Amino acid sequence: MEIDDIETIAVLGAGNMGHGIAEVAALSGYTVNLRDIKEEFVQDGYEQIEWSLEKLAEKDQITDEKAEDALDNVTPYVDVEEAVGDADFVIEAVPEQMDIKQDVYSDVEEHLPEHAIVTSNTSSLSITDLSEVTERPEQFAGMHFFNPPVRMQLVEVISGEHTDEETLAVTEALAEDFDKTPVRVRKDSPGFIVNRILVPLMNEACWMVSEDAATVEEIDSTTKFDMGLPMGSFELGDQVGHDVTYHVLEYMNDVLGEAYEPAPFLEELIEEERYGKKSGEGVYDYE
Ligand code: CAA
Repeated sequence: MEIDDIETIAVLGAGNMGHGIAEVAALSGYTVNLRDIKEEFVQDGYEQIEWSLEKLAEKDQITDEKAEDALDNVTPYVDVEEAVGDADFVIEAVPEQMDIKQDVYSDVEEHLPEHAIVTSNTSSLSITDLSEVTERPEQFAGMHFFNPPVRMQLVEVISGEHTDEETLAVTEALAEDFDKTPVRVRKDSPGFIVNRILVPLMNEACWMVSEDAATVEEIDSTTKFDMGLPMGSFELGDQVGHDVTYHVLEYMNDVLGEAYEPAPFLEELIEEERYGKKSGEGVYDYE
């Protein structure tokens, strides 16, 4: 399999990351089958792509024609067989839970062409463990984008224990074709590289609020202006989705130990379903 053999990409999951990844692939001229389990979910993802493309065109970051072409490249699906039957490459971006991802792979695999590579946009879960429930562990890798995919340059390409070199090389070439910069993650450890560093930072900010050591405003102005991050820690948490951060932390806590215990303030956000921008409210209010 080579990069030139890829025409159709199936993106599984039309949420925050899935729709953004589909948009990136469509902007690079691929035929994109965007699939989610309910009509309303996939439609919502499609409309977010439309919104984003319009926004990029308004700001002259792409032409109107390019925006229209990209949207034409995306077809929404609910039926699995239709979504993956002609796919050369799959990017799975369903919720960050091992059992959900494994169920998706079993649904997909019976309809998927043999040559197709399957990748997961998981933020932290073991690529080796995920690959072992598939019938193609050598053709399985991590392909981890950052939020928002259309704006973020980096893609982590993660090797599991069984991933073959051809799969990694094609995945990296695809990331480059998306105009992204792939970085190969050699070791399949929880959180890979970016989240191993970033998620504890967001959690530590939550611990400080839980302990009343500093306020949200103090922490965000310090991380944004003094530490030079593009967003404050809580703005970033709202962008990423606190549910995603929480799942990553729970997994890191299980595998790596108590340094990764989620802070009470983060747990409060989860209990109150204040997930961030995507739910209309997180640490900040977006309604
Ligand atoms: N498509 C098009 N436009 C978008 C958009 C999208 N998907 N998302 C936001 N925008 C628009 C906004 O609506 C806003 O538009 P207006 O100016 O019209 O209001 C505009 O972009 C904001 O962009 P700016 O150019 O003003 O802001 P910026 O140059 O500061 O860039 C940013 C925004 C690129 C998101 C920047 O703040 C940034 O890099 N933030 C950090 C993001 C980050 O670190 N992400 C990684 C998180 S970790 C992760 O994702 C991994 C994981 O597994 C948990």
